[in-house]
Amino acid sequence: MSDLRPAEILLSEEQIQKRVAELARDIRCDFPDSLHLVAVLKGAFIFLSDLVRHMVGQVSLDFMAVSSYAKGTTSSGEVRLLKDLDTTLDGKNVVIVEDIVDTGLTLTYLQDILRARNPRTLRTACLLSKPSRRQVDVKVEYIGFTIEDRFVVGYGLDYAEQYRNLPHIAVVGS
Ligand code: IMP
Repeated sequence: MSDLRPAEILLSEEQIQKRVAELARDIRCDFPDSLHLVAVLKGAFIFLSDLVRHMVGQVSLDFMAVSSYAKGTTSSGEVRLLKDLDTTLDGKNVVIVEDIVDTGLTLTYLQDILRARNPRTLRTACLLSKPSRRQVDVKVEYIGFTIEDRFVVGYGLDYAEQYRNLPHIAVVGS
């Protein structure tokens, strides 16, 4: 497993940038007045920074960190909160910004704990979705790209903390 590296470009920088601009427009259209984005570290940091720069008007941000895969490319199914939000969600229009929805376990956990904090609305934006891997039925209102069951890196996504800096998304191989 340790010699896995980016092998094939799945989504180019241009494709990603175009789609992120569209997602930003869709989200802003739904929430033109007030919007609070909650990004999930670390994977969503690049997606968030591009997304937010396509939005005009008022937007506030906060960050959460959760544990994802402990090692390798298989989900343990266990989710742990590593960093909580700095601000309350009371009465806010909240959109969770996540890199990828795979089994759906992480997002289900996040949506449950954030919903309990009384936001006015709670929606989710994911750059990528792998529907064939889903273990729980989780609602995601904004999806950038639907992909097959391949392990991908780049644009914030890592393999063993590497490759987050790639401007494109690549499938790993040995
Ligand atoms: P889920 O709980 O199985 O939906 O997994 C969500 C988390 O697993 C994501 O936030 C990522 O951190 C990680 N993940 C899932 N698939 C991939 C992938 O293909 N590449 C990198 N990370 C992934």
